[in-house]
Amino acid sequence: MNKFGGDWTEAKIEILVEYAKAYLTIMDKFADRFGWKLLYFDGFAGSGFIKKGNDENQKIIIGATKRILDIDEPRPFDRYYFVEKEIEKADELIEKVVQNYNHKTINVVNTDCNEKIQSMSEFLKTQKGKKYRVLAYIDPCGMQVNWKSLIALQELKVDAWILVPTGMGVNRLLKKDGRISDAWIMRLETFLGMPKKEILDYFYSQTIVPTLFGDEVVTNKEEKAIERSAELYQKRLKELFTFVTNPYILKNKSNSIMFHFYMVSNNKTARKIANDIIEKYNTSN
Ligand SMILES: C[S@@+](CC[C@H](N)C(=O)[O-])C[C@H]1O[C@@H](n2cnc3c(N)ncnc32)[C@H](O)[C@@H]1O
Repeated sequence: MNKFGGDWTEAKIEILVEYAKAYLTIMDKFADRFGWKLLYFDGFAGSGFIKKGNDENQKIIIGATKRILDIDEPRPFDRYYFVEKEIEKADELIEKVVQNYNHKTINVVNTDCNEKIQSMSEFLKTQKGKKYRVLAYIDPCGMQVNWKSLIALQELKVDAWILVPTGMGVNRLLKKDGRISDAWIMRLETFLGMPKKEILDYFYSQTIVPTLFGDEVVTNKEEKAIERSAELYQKRLKELFTFVTNPYILKNKSNSIMFHFYMVSNNKTARKIANDIIEKYNTSN
């Protein structure tokens, strides 16, 4: 069982499911005509169920895997590919969810999502792979998605929903005084796909303060670093994908921003549909 999440966990899944239904409605028309196969790829599949709250006040949310597998109207996907790094969760997903869908073609793979995004990208470029259209759900709990993995999806027939840990991840590594450990800098570089200097220049400014013994250079973290990291990530996504949505903003109970949720695509209509859904959920936040 996965343990995380607030109300936004449910909203995020509802957004995905609503989009998946719209996607399948549109794709249904083309799949028959052009012989396309529809693949659903979940890079952070989880155990199938999400435990929310504490021991006294607990709620169990049905995870995205089952919600997507339950879609039969207007049509189901032709294949489902679920990646989960933790073996216990992958096993639980098979036992509690996947086994009940023997009539569907499902793979559960116990490995790292980045690895599987790379192999999916290689596959989509092959003769057989070119027949596939993909809806991907990239739902990490932290900064596990390497920028290189998103580069691998560039120019492919993939619509991907990506959860970006702006508040939960990036902002927490950006220490106020700019003294970030080498390990954290490396994490930021791999995650943002940017070199250290560019990251520091973007998130920090330097001022010169006169002191008794001469001028001192003081490093200051820019205001609104979470929003800045969301803008940066969106700008970077736009360098890879033709169409990038506005974000659905996920906040915790104290109204702090935890994540930004984007959809990327190379199809204009896809962005319009996704933006309409996102707007609806942002205004009901
Ligand atoms: C936010 S949860 C996913 C919840 C799931 N999407 C759902 O709706 O139930 C993130 C999951 O990703 C798994 N995970 C963490 N790092 C991973 C990685 N590098 N590759 C694949 N899975 C990973 C975690 O074990 C966890 O189950």
